[in-house]
Amino acid sequence: MNNFDLTGKIAIVTGGQRGIGLGIANKLAEAGADVVISGIVDDEGEHAASALRNRGLKASYVRMDVRSEDAILSTVGQIVAVHGRIDIAVANAAIYPNTPIAKISTDEWDAVLAVNLRGPFLLARACLPHFQKQRGGRVIFLSSITGPRVSSPGYSHYAATKAGILGFMRTAALEWAPWNITLNAVEPGNVLTEGVKEHQPQSFIDAQAAAVPLRRLGTPEDIAHAVHFLASDEASYITGQTIVIDGGQTIPEMATAILPGA
Ligand SMILES: NC(=O)c1ccc[n+]([C@@H]2O[C@H](COP(=O)([O-])OP(=O)(O)OC[C@H]3O[C@@H](n4cnc5c(N)ncnc54)[C@H](O)[C@@H]3O)[C@@H](O)[C@H]2O)c1
Repeated sequence: MNNFDLTGKIAIVTGGQRGIGLGIANKLAEAGADVVISGIVDDEGEHAASALRNRGLKASYVRMDVRSEDAILSTVGQIVAVHGRIDIAVANAAIYPNTPIAKISTDEWDAVLAVNLRGPFLLARACLPHFQKQRGGRVIFLSSITGPRVSSPGYSHYAATKAGILGFMRTAALEWAPWNITLNAVEPGNVLTEGVKEHQPQSFIDAQAAAVPLRRLGTPEDIAHAVHFLASDEASYITGQTIVIDGGQTIPEMATAILPGA
């Protein structure tokens, strides 16, 4: 068996049709998992799943809005009905509006929490009875350096969700350890995805890359490699932990640190 082999494992990746989620869906499928890409943009999701199937890999798409507990319960139930099990849940879907605190409406605050914090909780809990029955399962959360370690003006609600999910993760890691269920998270730095390109001007992207010690933004593949590891049998003794994947972005002691040339 290859190291980090996921043959026979059934995985769900929320928001897996583009960006980091797509990178993760691709990586898990390449490692042998049968991947269910879930999301709310059906044409993108169908396209992502069929692109994987065209490469001889196992993938499907299902519409699932992570704001709906009914949708999550029914999707996880369907996966178990079709595949007989579920092994890996990747809580990736998120939204990240940029609004200063003084201007955030309570509706906007609630909307960000509904997708980024309540959604991952609902997904993990929907998997719980199946993981308990199987006596094993993996949950991997997409946190961020934004919240747990650093922040930017405009992202208070986003930062609160990305820090908050780690508190949930550590508690669940304790509660669910008796069934061999592990929960871990990755904390990406700035990763160049469609979402970032939509929200940030090129000048910001260039400035960010120049400020990262490794002199580039992350790629979805950089994040997917760590998620793949955390989903593998080789990571079975790791729970309640996070991996920062930021090219060294959070290392500098001073905000104005001048990075050395090559
Ligand atoms: N890109 C970065 O720099 C970066 C950095 C740190 C953390 N992250 C985290 O990584 C994850 C992926 O980020 P990305 O940049 O690929 O984002 P993205 O916007 O490209 O993708 C997010 C996905 O979530 C889906 N989604 C949004 N609302 C949903 C809902 N209600 N139900 C189901 N799906 C929904 C979107 O359709 C989209 O496919 C997020 O959790 C994000 O917070 C990203």
